[in-house]
Amino acid sequence: MNVTVFGTGYVGLVQGAVLADVGHNVVCVDVDANKVERLNQGDIPIYEPGLEPLVKENHAAGRLRFTTDAAEGIKHGQVQFIAVGTPPDEDGSADLKYVLTVAETIAQHMERDLVIINKSTVPVGTADKVRDKVDGVLESRGRKDLRFDVVSNPEFLKEGSAVSDCQRPDRIIIGTESRIAEDMLRELYAPFSRQQDKMIVMDVRSAELTKYAANCMLATKISFMNEMANLAERLGADIEMVRQGIGSDPRIGYHFIYPGVGYGGSCFPKDVQALIRTAGSIDFDAKVLKAVEARNEEQKTTLFQKIHKHYQGNLAGKTFAIWGLAFKPNTDDMREAPSRVLMEALWQAGAKVQAYDPEAMEETQRIYGNRDDLTLCGTKEAALRGADALAIVTEWQSFRAPDFELIKQQLTEPLIFDGRNMFEPRRVAIKGFRYFSVGR
Ligand SMILES: NC(=O)c1ccc[n+]([C@@H]2O[C@H](COP(=O)([O-])OP(=O)(O)OC[C@H]3O[C@@H](n4cnc5c(N)ncnc54)[C@H](O)[C@@H]3O)[C@@H](O)[C@H]2O)c1
Repeated sequence: MNVTVFGTGYVGLVQGAVLADVGHNVVCVDVDANKVERLNQGDIPIYEPGLEPLVKENHAAGRLRFTTDAAEGIKHGQVQFIAVGTPPDEDGSADLKYVLTVAETIAQHMERDLVIINKSTVPVGTADKVRDKVDGVLESRGRKDLRFDVVSNPEFLKEGSAVSDCQRPDRIIIGTESRIAEDMLRELYAPFSRQQDKMIVMDVRSAELTKYAANCMLATKISFMNEMANLAERLGADIEMVRQGIGSDPRIGYHFIYPGVGYGGSCFPKDVQALIRTAGSIDFDAKVLKAVEARNEEQKTTLFQKIHKHYQGNLAGKTFAIWGLAFKPNTDDMREAPSRVLMEALWQAGAKVQAYDPEAMEETQRIYGNRDDLTLCGTKEAALRGADALAIVTEWQSFRAPDFELIKQQLTEPLIFDGRNMFEPRRVAIKGFRYFSVGR
């Protein structure tokens, strides 16, 4: 099938590459000429495991092309994916300007019947707005003869395992009332539904809400566990024992109940906020979601609070080694990353940072530029050199079994602040460290 994807970010690029890999003919359109140029040269602008070979192979085979020419893309695809960003507006609601711009562009150039698929995370009612936009432009062009459907097909991939999530989705949510659109999507996604039917077809509004409900449920699990961790810490309990104790109940399960320094990334923070705003717009007070957000904001400061307390506020002139900058492992994404809250608070207090992350160094450099109080180090060991303490913010696999002797030698004092409960407190204590973690 001929497919066009608008947006070559985490969602659009991965989806485009995965669709091309099963044999569809994909054209990806982006307004960012630099990104398109890099992609055409085989240089992948984001880090995502398995993505580079997939893009290169399919690009070389001619099944995956990149362009800034929207008209060319619209001419190509029977289906047109919208996978552009929906960042938070000033008040936290989802900003639809990129989605509606793409809708307008499609309407300006379409010359045949099309299925427009919205993959961006958008508030309930957005498909109607896209439809109105396209209708309006077609009317002004005198082309009301052209038929189109607007389908909601939210994306559930996780950064860090985006390729395998797209290749083996748990479910494919399709929001449409059109038989034609449903048939087309069944054909498009058939290669991903072989073992069992992954498609769940529903009305458009339910599909749009499904995406928010999923992310808000996951964010709620995290904030709930962080609340329990804070309680455990104050009550002399160990949250890691509590986690295992509740996870063994199949109604609760072990997934996604790790305490830590709060959720970040490009999705949970903005999606929780956006659903709160959507609820507010219809005079509904989303009490649970507001609490989830408030707990998370506070949790992002927890590591700094522990450091501040330990040094009784005297942080000026101190240097901290930070391991992990990305908002989670296996990505270079720094959007809303808890590491940023920690670093910025340390700088504000007059401390310096020596940081290492396996993938997010370039992104950190891009965000903060050159500053005297930030040294980006080539290895996790180099980040330790001469620092007063180590703070762990992201649970990268390569941090799980470090050389504690070396850490001790490199730091001025054997002191670890661990925001991800990477180690067993008793073992770290035996090795001679003072060790602060979360909820223990
Ligand atoms: N990142 C994730 O893990 C994830 C997961 C599921 C859903 N989503 C949702 O998917 C959407 C996209 O997210 P992302 O992380 O891929 O965003 P992103 O910011 O990484 O990429 C968006 C891309 O769209 C491009 N773009 C903007 N306007 C355009 C236009 N008019 N025409 C063509 N391209 C245009 C931008 O240049 C950019 O390359 C968002 O709504 C997000 O909430 C993201």
